[in-house]
Amino acid sequence: SIVLPKFATVSNLATLLQVRFVDLQQRMQDMGYSDTDPDHIVDDENAQLIADEFGIEGQVSQSHGDDVYAQPPPENLAACPERPPVIALMGHVDHGKTTLLDYFRSSQIVKGEKGGITQHIGAFMTNLRQTNRQVCFLDTPGHEAFLKLRQRGANLTDIVLLVVAADDSVMPQTKEAIKHAKAAGVPMLVAITKIDRPEANIEKVTADLAAADVDVEDYGGETQTIPVSAVTKQGVDDLETALTALIEVIDARAPKYGNVEGVIVESQKLKGLGLTTSMIVRRGTLKPKMPLVAGTAHCHVRQIFNENNKALKEAPPGTPVRITGWQDLPEPGDTVLQASSEDMAKRVVANRKRLIQEALEAKQVEIINENRRIEH
Ligand code: GTP
Ligand code: MG
Repeated sequence: SIVLPKFATVSNLATLLQVRFVDLQQRMQDMGYSDTDPDHIVDDENAQLIADEFGIEGQVSQSHGDDVYAQPPPENLAACPERPPVIALMGHVDHGKTTLLDYFRSSQIVKGEKGGITQHIGAFMTNLRQTNRQVCFLDTPGHEAFLKLRQRGANLTDIVLLVVAADDSVMPQTKEAIKHAKAAGVPMLVAITKIDRPEANIEKVTADLAAADVDVEDYGGETQTIPVSAVTKQGVDDLETALTALIEVIDARAPKYGNVEGVIVESQKLKGLGLTTSMIVRRGTLKPKMPLVAGTAHCHVRQIFNENNKALKEAPPGTPVRITGWQDLPEPGDTVLQASSEDMAKRVVANRKRLIQEALEAKQVEIINENRRIEH
């Protein structure tokens, strides 16, 4: 039996089934397929039917992005090098997420923010003080308007660092962040901030968290809650110790070689740079000139910048970067895959756009038929 990609072109399929292209084309036409152009995309179900015709048992691949490159052999992840884990700061507006990030990075981002409010997802590389271990922090906005960004943040991360102010306790966006973390299936660590404030009530926060379905340690669960103050620095060492322990548990690893895979954090048109995206490299090493595909956009990587706008020659797994060279803007959350050539990247994008178009048209036909059924 052979493994069939989710989306293969007719020409790919001929290669996979080891039959002559013209023979495949003829057989497909006999089966009733009208479009048998080499570039026409066949989904996995149809590929299975066609493979059956040739007496070959086809198994559907579970991997995403088979239209970009042939599936590499299963990896022994445990043998891969460690990569910086991605840690997302999440929580209600003004509870102290960016301030904590500033502490970890010895930076002053909060001071430069408009109205002291975070309005986008920022990705920052830093070394933890105790272990010098490199980590990638994602700062997310707490303001209620940015629900999508928080949802996205939870899906990009390895660990959610939930920030709850001791003087305000669990608020609507705290609950929302808990929901996102659970949906994304990532472990959580809680920082109870602002414990220097006179109204701080740590016990209330812990009880409210338990009531919000967080399995807090104080109530026999697994989620640690660490009281901290960014002002007096009380508890920050304990927070880092707890974070380090969790990082060891998740043991983030990725291969440095092979095809690059990543995920889009944000897409932007920037003056002088054109279409850019921030992205996190998940595996492989990103380099300039690489052809990439993400969603229905492709890129010939022109420049790679780190968070300080320093140009990089390469970016290994776990690195947040901004890249230029996009022909179109992909959607945040889109998977980024390296293509074998610029031409291949263009073809993949054209195919994906056509698939979307076909799906839309099929949906329209379905709706029209449904309406007819109701009318009769
Ligand atoms: P959004 O990104 O808008 O959701 O806010 P945020 O969670 O990033 O909060 P931010 O770090 O901007 O902090 C909000 C305010 O709380 C700022 O004025 C901080 O100086 C203050 N703050 C943060 N941490 C502490 C703390 O531990 N103690 C005290 N007293 N104030 C704090
Ligand atoms: Mg903030």
